Amino acid sequence: MNTNFDKLVIKYNQPVPRYTSYPTVPFWNDDLDKAVWKKLVKDQFSVHNSRDGISLYIHLPFCESLCTYCGCNKKITTNHGVEEKYLATIEKEFLLYLDLLKETPMIREIHLGGGTPTFFSPKNLVKLIKLIKQRSVIHPLHEFSIEGHPNNTTREHLQALYNLGFRRISYGVQDNDPEVQRIINRIQPLENVRSATTTARDIGFESVNFDLIYGLPQQTMQSIRKTFEQVLELKPDRIAFYSYAHVPWTSRGQRLFDENDLPSPEEKIKLYLVGKEILINAGYTDIGMDHFALPTERLYKAWANGELHRNFMGYTTQHTSILLGLGVSSISDIGIAFAQNRKTLHDYYDCINKNELPVFRGYFLNEEDIAFRKYILNISCQGKTKFNRADLSVLKQFTYPELIKLEADNLIEWNESGLTVTSVGRHFIRNICSAFDLYLRKNKVENSKPIFSKAI
Ligand SMILES: C[S@@+](CC[C@H](N)C(=O)[O-])C[C@H]1O[C@@H](n2cnc3c(N)ncnc32)[C@H](O)[C@@H]1O
Ligand code: SF4
Repeated sequence: MNTNFDKLVIKYNQPVPRYTSYPTVPFWNDDLDKAVWKKLVKDQFSVHNSRDGISLYIHLPFCESLCTYCGCNKKITTNHGVEEKYLATIEKEFLLYLDLLKETPMIREIHLGGGTPTFFSPKNLVKLIKLIKQRSVIHPLHEFSIEGHPNNTTREHLQALYNLGFRRISYGVQDNDPEVQRIINRIQPLENVRSATTTARDIGFESVNFDLIYGLPQQTMQSIRKTFEQVLELKPDRIAFYSYAHVPWTSRGQRLFDENDLPSPEEKIKLYLVGKEILINAGYTDIGMDHFALPTERLYKAWANGELHRNFMGYTTQHTSILLGLGVSSISDIGIAFAQNRKTLHDYYDCINKNELPVFRGYFLNEEDIAFRKYILNISCQGKTKFNRADLSVLKQFTYPELIKLEADNLIEWNESGLTVTSVGRHFIRNICSAFDLYLRKNKVENSKPIFSKAI
């Protein structure tokens, strides 16, 4: 790596959103008008349900122990007595939506995320999915997926999920080095990852994803090489190689290790580049921000056909316009509006017990938001975008000045009809997207308040 690249890394290592939504969550309204949300859901549902079906994201928040790096919404407990109450509440939430929609939903996609969905017993997961199936029509091309923890995903889980139609599983692997695992409080023998992977494949799962993270405390070039060597023996179909997001102001567990153990930005990007090189040499394609896939994978095909989508779950092959989020902290995206559920279990239970939808904050998009979201999606999913003439004056005022700077650093090529990300620019996609983020550009954020993780 040359020093010029190091300079770019330092220059662009600013707090920037990951753009899993636009506008990003800090710009949503904390007092979402529920009546408007309900009306918009109904309207969108009547247009899209019978045509494309809908997607469900179900958040299952419990984990048995705390991984100190974790930035997810989770609740740590070893008491499995919590499962029944939680699932009964999800059921009520689903029924509240059914009451509102007055039409049987056609389910195209279900994703069980967390927390740790495999914290729940196979029996309880079956109960949950059966209940949803009983109240819905299942799309003939449905895609069901789940996030599993290699330490607690059993053959019984995998068989039960397979029987229900699940064909994709994503495992949190993170890092195999014993010292890193000790510091992040995630002792996970490689044997568990191997067994969870081979069992899933034996049973018939078509795609196995591994989540890995670069930038964890005490990670070194040597340790990350070894992790990749071991991981690649199992040939996961996809790999999400995430940049560690250090946000100790919201994820308090991150205060439990010494910040001095974290790699510097220059070291961190080197960890990424080593991992990326190993993956490319092993036949994976870099399909965008932190995601790699084998050519046989659906995500790769969507990328190659220009059909990739990005939402709260990262990159997806999403085929629907409506994503309903169920469970504590879940986010729904209906194309023209977002809404997030209450973030603590107490508030979530309280709302549902009052027969109220638990959404509390969200955003109704205007035409300008929709146009600029498209630019951000195009850049993050395809590495290029065209510009609409109708947006010219706003682009000139807010975006062009940023594009001039990005071009000077050789991160993009552009003219008045559109933009293409260069090969160097691929490392700075979040920064490039932020040129189209009118909320940042119009300086509506208080600079003193940390909100986003750093770009690198
Ligand atoms: C809900 S967890 C996956 C399922 C399961 N809980 C597990 O850990 O195996 C989602 C993924 O988010 C990623 N993640 C969590 N905290 C992160 C952080 N601070 N920075 C980057 N990635 C993070 C991890 O790679 C993790 O596997
Ligand atoms: S990384 Fe996964 S298992 Fe660990 S605390 Fe976060 S959600 Fe739970």
